[in-house]
Formats: sequence, structure tokens, C-alpha cells
Amino acid sequence: MSADQVAQPLRRAAITVGISGGSGAVYAVRLLQLLPRYYNRVNVVLSNASRQVIAQELAVDVPGPGAWRLPDASEEEGERVVIWNNQDYSAPFASGSNAPEQMVIVPCSMSTAASIAHGVDQNLMHHAAGVIIKEKRELIIVPRETPLSAIHLRNLLTLAELGVTVIPAMPGFYGGQSTFDDLITFVLQKILNHLKIDARLARKWGE
Ligand SMILES: Cc1cc2nc3c(=O)[nH]c(=O)nc-3n(C[C@H](O)[C@H](O)[C@H](O)COP(=O)(O)O)c2cc1C
Repeated sequence: MSADQVAQPLRRAAITVGISGGSGAVYAVRLLQLLPRYYNRVNVVLSNASRQVIAQELAVDVPGPGAWRLPDASEEEGERVVIWNNQDYSAPFASGSNAPEQMVIVPCSMSTAASIAHGVDQNLMHHAAGVIIKEKRELIIVPRETPLSAIHLRNLLTLAELGVTVIPAMPGFYGGQSTFDDLITFVLQKILNHLKIDARLARKWGE
């Protein structure tokens, strides 16, 4: 076994991350800073609205299609995170024959949740999510809106009934969370747990 294999024995092949225009862009950026440790390729699709929200909420530049080196990422990690044009239906993960095992949409706007729940492909992100659902792979969404209307709740229920994991951007406070960072970490830990990534960002209850 080579030194490289020893150093990185457990990296998975690929994951798709969708970023839609819900509030909470920080969850997406923080997740993208972690995932290259665990996946050889992190394919990213951003909606137009998400770019607007990111500009509003964070001091992070989002490039066009191609590699995205996030703050604090190594050059190698930066090469593993790749942005796709959200209208490019020729992306590999747009096909059931090349669907990844896992996809996360974080944050997931109510509009994106509605499109996916009703199979309306308005962009690559919706289409890729539909592929994950039809191929019975794992889709995790992190919705954010408040209050939730009956329309929102119905759409989220439809997705849950289709096997989608719904992790609302709804941090708990029972673990002594007291800072902004603790609250973000709480939600990220939930996502990582459901991706079955053995990483401990926050203490488990009872520890
Ligand atoms: C600063 C900002 C914050 C927003 N926050 C939310 C939100 O938390 N949840 C939501 O569903 N929509 C939110 N929106 C509205 C969505 O961006 C809008 O519905 C958009 O059409 C979603 O498109 P997308 O699903 O293609 O990203 C926000 C918009 C802006 C500009």
C-alpha cells in the first residue's frame, strides 16, 4: 500500500451539494469546507437566488463553473470542489447511470423543495435531486423558512414520504450551545451523521 493510500484510506467517490436561495448560506460554505476530506469529488450547483443570498450573508466570493477553493481549503481540497452551471444538464450526476450515492441541498429554499416534491425540473439542482430520488439513493435537504405554511409542510411531507431526509436548519440548545459557531456546528453535525461520516464536531448527548 502506498503512503497516499495510508494517509487517505476512506475517501468516497463523489457527492453532489445543491445550494439554493434559503437563508443560512454559512451552513453550505462550512459543509463544503469539510466534505473534500471525505469525498474525491464534491459537485456543487448553486441557484441564482443562492448567489444573491450568499452575497447578502457572507464575505465569500463564489466563482463561475469550475474549481472552487473555499477559505481555509488547501489547494488539493479546492480542486475537489467543482461548481457546475445550474442549467448544464450534461453534468455526470444528471444521469441515473452516474448518480452519486448521496446529495445534500443546503440551505433548501421552499421554492426548491416545491420543485423537487412535484418533479418540476427548473434547473440542474432539481433534476439531480429527482435522479437521486428515482434511483433510490440518499437525498438530504436542509430547509429554512419560518413560519411554515401548509404548502411548505405538504411539500416537505411529500419529500419525506419519498425517502428524503429533512434536516431543518433548526439547531438545538440542549448541549450547552452558546455561540453562533456552536449553532452552525449543531446542524452540520446532523448532516454529517446522516451522510454516515464519522466526524465529531459537537458532543453527543450524554457525553
Ligand atoms: C436574503 C434572502 C434570504 C432569503 N431567505 C429565504 C429562506 O430562508 N427561505 C426561503 O424559502 N426563501 C428565502 N428567500 C427567497 C428565495 O431566495 C426565493 O424564493 C428564490 O426564488 C428561491 O429560488 P431557488 O430555490 O432557485 O434558490 C430569501 C431571499 C433572499 C434574497
